[in-house]
This record gives sequence, C-alpha cells and structure tokens, in this order.
Amino acid sequence: MKKTLLLTPGPTPVPEDVLEAMARPIIHHRHEPFRAVVEEVKEDLKYLFQTGNDVLILASTGTGAMEGSVVNLLSRGDKAIVVQAGKFGERWTEICEAYGVEAIPIDVEWGKAVDPEEVRTVLDRNPDARAVFLQASETSTGVRHPVREIAALVAARENTVIVVDAITALGVFDLPTDAWNLDVVVTGSQKALMLPPGLAFASLSEKAWRFVKESNLPKYYFDFAKEKKNLAKNQTAYTSSVSLIIGLQASLARIKEEGLENLFARTDKLARATRAGVRALGLELLAPEAPSDACTAIKVPEGIDGAKIPSLIREKYGVAVAGGQAHLKGKIIRISHMGYVNTYDIISGLAALEFVLRDLGFPVETGASVKAALEILAS
Ligand SMILES: Cc1ncc(COP(=O)(O)O)c(C=O)c1O
Repeated sequence: MKKTLLLTPGPTPVPEDVLEAMARPIIHHRHEPFRAVVEEVKEDLKYLFQTGNDVLILASTGTGAMEGSVVNLLSRGDKAIVVQAGKFGERWTEICEAYGVEAIPIDVEWGKAVDPEEVRTVLDRNPDARAVFLQASETSTGVRHPVREIAALVAARENTVIVVDAITALGVFDLPTDAWNLDVVVTGSQKALMLPPGLAFASLSEKAWRFVKESNLPKYYFDFAKEKKNLAKNQTAYTSSVSLIIGLQASLARIKEEGLENLFARTDKLARATRAGVRALGLELLAPEAPSDACTAIKVPEGIDGAKIPSLIREKYGVAVAGGQAHLKGKIIRISHMGYVNTYDIISGLAALEFVLRDLGFPVETGASVKAALEILAS
C-alpha cells in the first residue's frame, strides 16, 4: 500500500479542514464576502507576526516577498550587509545584485550560526549600509541565527533596517516582530502556515515605511505602498489568491486556537525528539550548536551514498524528506518538524530512516531512534 508522509521542510502537510476550506467555490476578490475574509486574516496575521503593523499578503512564493523587500526599501547603489550561511542567505545577495545593490556578505560556515559580534564589526566598518539581510532559520542547513541580538544592533542605527527571512521561522519559534524591532519580516505559506505554496507575507515597521518612501529601485508587481493602500480596504492590489487566502483563514484559526506559546512548545519538543532519535543512531547533526526547530539536518555517515536516501525513503517507505542543497547534496538529509506534524509523524519518519540506513549498509540498532524520541515525547 502506498501512503506518503510529507516531512520535507516545505511544502509541509496541509490539515484536512484547511483543504476543505480551499475546495469551496470561488468568490470574487472585490466582493464583500471575500473582503470579510481578508479583514479577519489581516488581524490574525498580526497575531502570528506579533506586530501592530499591517502584514501584506502577496500572491507569490516566499522569494517574492524577499525580492519585494529589496526593491521597496533600497535604492540603486545602496550597500546592504548579508548574512550568508546557506542557500537562502546567498539568495539575498543574488537579489541585491540583480537590482544594483552592493551586497557586503558575512560568510558563515554552512551549519553554523552567525556571531552577532561579527555583524557589529561589519556594521561599524560600513556605517552607510542601509540594510542587514538574514534568515531567522536557514533551511538549507537547519540553523537558527541570533536575530534578537542582531536586531538590537540595527535598532540603534537610524539609517539601517533589519530584514528577516522568517520563511521557516514564523510559527515555528518565538520571533516577536515588534518587541525585537524587526523592521521587515517575510514568510511564505508552505511551511509552518500549513498551506500549499503560493502566498508570501511581509510586515514593515514605521522605520521600514520611511525607507519605502526614499527607495528608487524599479518595482511594479511587488509594490508595498500599493499593497498597503489596498489592504486598508481589505483587498490586495491585484486578483487575490482567493482559495489560498480562504485556506489561510482556516490555518490561522488553528494557530490561534492552539496559541503561539503552545505551538512553539510543541514544535520544540518534536525537534528535540528528532535530534535525540538521530543521535541515538550514531548520526551527527549538521548544526548541533544552533539547531532550528524547523528542520533537522543530519549528516550522512561516511561510506553511505547520501544522494540515494531521499528517493529510496520515499519510494520504499513512503516518507518524503529533503536532501542537501549545493555542496551539501548527498551529504545531508533534512527532516521537517514544523506545521501540521505530530508525535506519530516524527516516530514514523525516524523508523523509515532506520530502515533506509539499514538497506544502505549502515548498522542500526532497531528502534534505537524511536526509543530516544519517545522518551522526550512522553515527557
Ligand atoms: C529560509 C527560506 N528562505 C527562502 C525560501 C524560498 O522560498 P520560496 O521557495 O517559497 O520562494 C525558502 C524555501 O524553502 C526558505 O526555507
């Protein structure tokens, strides 16, 4: 029998009630029933982002909100500091360079978190840098960066903003936008929001809106000021992703019902259980010092063909996980524990990992990972 469990770090599983909501007949995006949905979603997004500011809703994947942040806040020839600790850090640089923004990279070994002191040094050396771009959770390595400490450095500088890619952080661990002075926070629908891909979100602080006024980079579709004006009327600038936003209403209702504190505690426990399970098999984590609760990156043991694991574990055991990206291809596998994932999903994922490792010739003590995980999950 074929039954697949989706444990990739995006897309993630979508709950049944959210799927049902998205299957409703299409309504018009300018008519009152849909505007009522947007009105509700607008408030619930503020709860998720922990902000009093508007959260813009964009019809794109997360990268659209990243690109939107660059083109709406910066101007040609601006300098921006970029934390490059993985594939998605590199994406900030690529977007900046595509628009003529000078990226000043802080290169961090993949698997490590950036040291805030290094950011302080680069900021001191570049007082004219207009922005600091980073990931709260670098999905390609499973690392969590010290956003709070870095945001405090930026908050003290009038002419610099912090722009946080929280695509696998929001709804995973605590990231209070206003309390930490995060100027721009972006996320996407297909991670902890438990939706299909296709929506992106961006919150902007007052300081960030000042930058928007000064920005001269070209923009048309991702025009944040235009989106803000429309959101005031419970609309989006262009045709809304009607079904996805109706699904969002259902997924945010779930998040509110669980409560952020409980959601973070649940995800943290699943993440700790996964890490303990992996270690019990004698495997190493790529990011043991600063693991993100979004996904666990596991080093493929010496002598095992890591490139085979994702397809074998999916085809033979029905569990979808992700491999590594760029130079980590074949070297790591990544298991997600964000969003609509529970105890039994983690146990199944670990059991499948044991099976596949054994198939590939790695000695496994049957049930060792499951036992270690259960000890945490049962506590
Ligand atoms: C941290 C992070 N940033 C950016 C992206 C890119 O998002 P998308 O593929 O939705 O454009 C991802 C997707 O996995 C991500 O995890």
